Amino acid sequence: MPRLLVVHHTPSPTLDTMLRCVLDGAGQAELAEVEVQHRPALGATVTDVLEADGYIVGTPANLGYMSGALKHFFDTIYYPCLTSTIGRPWGLYVHGNDDVDGAVTAARKIVTGLGWKAVSEPVLCTGEITSHDREACWELGAVVAASLLD
Ligand SMILES: Cc1cc2nc3c(=O)[nH]c(=O)nc-3n(C[C@H](O)[C@H](O)[C@H](O)COP(=O)(O)O)c2cc1C
Repeated sequence: MPRLLVVHHTPSPTLDTMLRCVLDGAGQAELAEVEVQHRPALGATVTDVLEADGYIVGTPANLGYMSGALKHFFDTIYYPCLTSTIGRPWGLYVHGNDDVDGAVTAARKIVTGLGWKAVSEPVLCTGEITSHDREACWELGAVVAASLLD
């Protein structure tokens, strides 16, 4: 059974809503053949990453970058996973008050190094999230999960 790992930093209700929507999309009945695992960024391990087949990462924009928690996750898994996870699908969601560019650029740069393959545009939200944002998160979860069945 293919496994999707969602690694997230969720310090607020807004990010919790985005995470729930991602998990709902990935966990929909039509994708029951995909196992969905989720881990807070500070609790995700090298083993979690190696044993998954695809990834979604979620973070707030903090000081023009991804959260320190998500950066810690990447610092932890980067070299142990460098040669073993190449080509696996991934997706990203980011929320900020007004500017998420630095967080997106940083996450993409690291993941380019890991060789993961983007299968969806990142979901980028600012300010109060809308129904459109919630749908985009749901879609992100669905698309990355579905890619594991290809
Ligand atoms: C220390 C800190 C730094 C932040 N830096 C940024 C930033 O650079 N850009 C931005 O758009 N939002 C920034 N924010 C806002 C967070 O991204 C935002 O609080 C988070 O996405 C959760 O949104 P919410 O507070 O509306 O629930 C920052 C928040 C904190 C606490």
